[in-house]
Amino acid sequence: MNAAVRAVVRKAIFHNVEIYGIYHGYTGLIEGQIEKLELGSVGDIIHRGGTKLYSARCPEFKTIEGQKKGIEQLKKHGIEGLVVIGGDGSYMGAKKLTEHGFPCVGVPGTIDNDIPGTDFTIGFDTALNTVIDAIDKIRDTATSHERTYVIEVMGRHAGDIALWSGLAGGAETILIPEENYDMDDIVARLKRGNERGKKHSIIIVAEGVGSGVDFAKQIEEATTFETRVSVLGHVQRGGSPTASDRVLASRLGAFAVELLLEGKGGRCVGIQKNELVHHDIIEILDQPHTIDNDMYRLSKELSI
Ligand code: F6P
Repeated sequence: MNAAVRAVVRKAIFHNVEIYGIYHGYTGLIEGQIEKLELGSVGDIIHRGGTKLYSARCPEFKTIEGQKKGIEQLKKHGIEGLVVIGGDGSYMGAKKLTEHGFPCVGVPGTIDNDIPGTDFTIGFDTALNTVIDAIDKIRDTATSHERTYVIEVMGRHAGDIALWSGLAGGAETILIPEENYDMDDIVARLKRGNERGKKHSIIIVAEGVGSGVDFAKQIEEATTFETRVSVLGHVQRGGSPTASDRVLASRLGAFAVELLLEGKGGRCVGIQKNELVHHDIIEILDQPHTIDNDMYRLSKELSI
């Protein structure tokens, strides 16, 4: 997100527009934690994970009173347009501000890759690479000790991290919240693999499917193969961003500013087929997140 913040600030200043940072998300907006930013304010952050502006969940912003307080603060500081970087909670707030008539542009920032209207969200590629690194390391033990490994990755509602990392990491089984699974089939496949000499397996479980720990117990009981579990957790949400994420964040952040300068509020930006796109932020939130079915099918075909 830092790369996106930097792009927004620099693009605005490039066009001689004053730019302010709001700290701690909508909580900071309501409380007026607002500060003018300069070129140097966003120096030395492009390679850092997280966000220099901090982040917070804000239940108050779900209320009309909270939203009105936010708009008052924006007006008080002479702010005429807002770039909101984040996931569905952030977009929901941007949608509310749009409905109140305040010009907002949403920039998709979440490791879950579950914002409609864009092929990729900022942070997804970095999280994916963290997961791949972990899978590769775990695979060494899995191979040496001839064990089955269950690796639980993030994704409360979306299976993208599990699907992409499972495909890239050569997992035997990938479980995602968008698809049902058949335990008997998983066990049968593990046993078949074992009979033909395959002594280790990697199973990726998205957290939205259920607990990786419970799943590992069930697998061990049903197969009698020694099974271990690794829950990767919040390491997936940090670390220096990949080049691809930095470029994506820079492009999307700058594009959001361009739209506001053209007087186009109520939009959210994205990248589709490597082209910058923008959609109506109110309509986009009604669209369900879907996984790439071709990729899901491929993951099954390659792990027979
Ligand atoms: O950023 C999205 C996400 O990673 C989800 O996949 C996950 O369920 C959630 O955040 C966990 O966040 P927290 O522990 O901060 O509530």
